[in-house]
Amino acid sequence: MGLANYHLLLFGQVISYFLASKLIFDKVNETINIVIDEYFHIPQGIAYCNGNYSYWDPKITTLPGLYLVSSVVGTYFKCNTYNLRFVNLIASCVNLVLFSSILRFVYFSDRNHMKIILQAVSLTILPPLYFFSHVYYTDVLSVTFLLLFSRLCLTNRYIFMILISGVSSIMMRQTNVVWIAMVFGHKLLDLLIKSSRVFGNQYINDVRLSKRSLIAKDVDKSKLKRYYGLKDVYFAAKYHLSTGLTTFFKFLTFHDATILFTHLMILSGFVAFVYYNGSIVVGDKTAHEATLHLPQLLYFLLFYGVFGLPYVVNRLKSTLKLMYRQKILVLLSILVFILTVHFNTLVHPYLVADNRHFTFYVWNRWFGKYENAIYLTVPVYVFLLFSIYDNLREQNCISFLLPYTICLVLSLALQKLIEIRYFLVPYIVLRLRFARPSHMVILSEFLWYILINAAAFHVFFNKEVMWKDFDYVQRIIW
Ligand SMILES: *[C@@H]1O[C@H](CO)[C@@H](O)[C@H](O)[C@H]1NC(C)=O
Repeated sequence: MGLANYHLLLFGQVISYFLASKLIFDKVNETINIVIDEYFHIPQGIAYCNGNYSYWDPKITTLPGLYLVSSVVGTYFKCNTYNLRFVNLIASCVNLVLFSSILRFVYFSDRNHMKIILQAVSLTILPPLYFFSHVYYTDVLSVTFLLLFSRLCLTNRYIFMILISGVSSIMMRQTNVVWIAMVFGHKLLDLLIKSSRVFGNQYINDVRLSKRSLIAKDVDKSKLKRYYGLKDVYFAAKYHLSTGLTTFFKFLTFHDATILFTHLMILSGFVAFVYYNGSIVVGDKTAHEATLHLPQLLYFLLFYGVFGLPYVVNRLKSTLKLMYRQKILVLLSILVFILTVHFNTLVHPYLVADNRHFTFYVWNRWFGKYENAIYLTVPVYVFLLFSIYDNLREQNCISFLLPYTICLVLSLALQKLIEIRYFLVPYIVLRLRFARPSHMVILSEFLWYILINAAAFHVFFNKEVMWKDFDYVQRIIW
């Protein structure tokens, strides 16, 4: 009964989401034919849609996943901008279902269907993600395949589907490999820690037992916890190094081994691709040279501050208390962040020249305008860092935090250009880990996103920007 109810509610929600979005979608179609990067994507998509696989625009830097999907569209529908963009609108409906399914798994004991579905809607209309559901960009489908991959990895049942969805997500955007590596790292670390908690591990036991003792075969149940810390990783590493991983393999089930192997296959396939291609990007390599750009992590904190505002406010008092208790850590973060912005603030020429993105306006009205703005923002970063930690507090198992942090650095801190789209996946991963929110927070999140979307689309529909190299009016987007 409850389950039927849930599916009915979800179905109704997807339909209303689709109908409301379709109105905006049609208005976007009437407003502009080519949105910025669609200049490359659309001709490429049309070519694949028409079955012309020999056409390849060398300016494109991603793998052809999006265009391959369009070639499926071509077998049933006309190949035009409207239909190509429509794929993303449909994909965003699929995202809504996948978000809901993941949230149901994460909050498995929660019987309140509406609470789960409303959160799924909010994630689907996460403003920058929602905007790209109306145009022909790679981001929405890339999220769809990543969500499918994550959902399958939660139950780890359909190994072949895990393989397919993982490879597909990389085909949409290469950088997704980082998030697949994160899932792998999470699983591996979890297994390494759990299998180290055996009788005979002298690093966590008071009683030293011989490594070959019979009871060393059993995991010490009393040493298992729900969440582990950095110290547990250290003990696990020490133990497994001293035993040459024998205990790890002894406790590795066939099922877990298959999953790790599947992930490894995807990852090694990617490594082979990079080796033969000579680089991570295809096509125009000069546009995407890797540069160390650590302040990207700080801008990600701002992204969290804006789009996670209900979570920031909800924990405001407890975050301030936490900071008060951790004065030394606060001072240390201030120092590290000041050094980071002082030595590593990079300004990509596009950022200060391309007035078709909101980042341009943020930069020119704050960071680029006042000499000390980069330093004056540091206290905000520190506060937001503690706020994230505070919101993750009940979920901060090291087997998640460590791979997440590494992957965050890899996916963001090597890009010179600040692109809001790049923050989407890391934010969604984080958001799905936040401790179960209250009704109030869920509702605020939804209303907040409606408000931001309304403002963003208002600017998009009404503000015209002329560029002299284009004979059509440009619009402002995320
Ligand atoms: C999309 O917009 C174009 C012109 O801007 C219009 O001719 C076309 O009919 C629109 N497509 C749909 C399906 O509304």
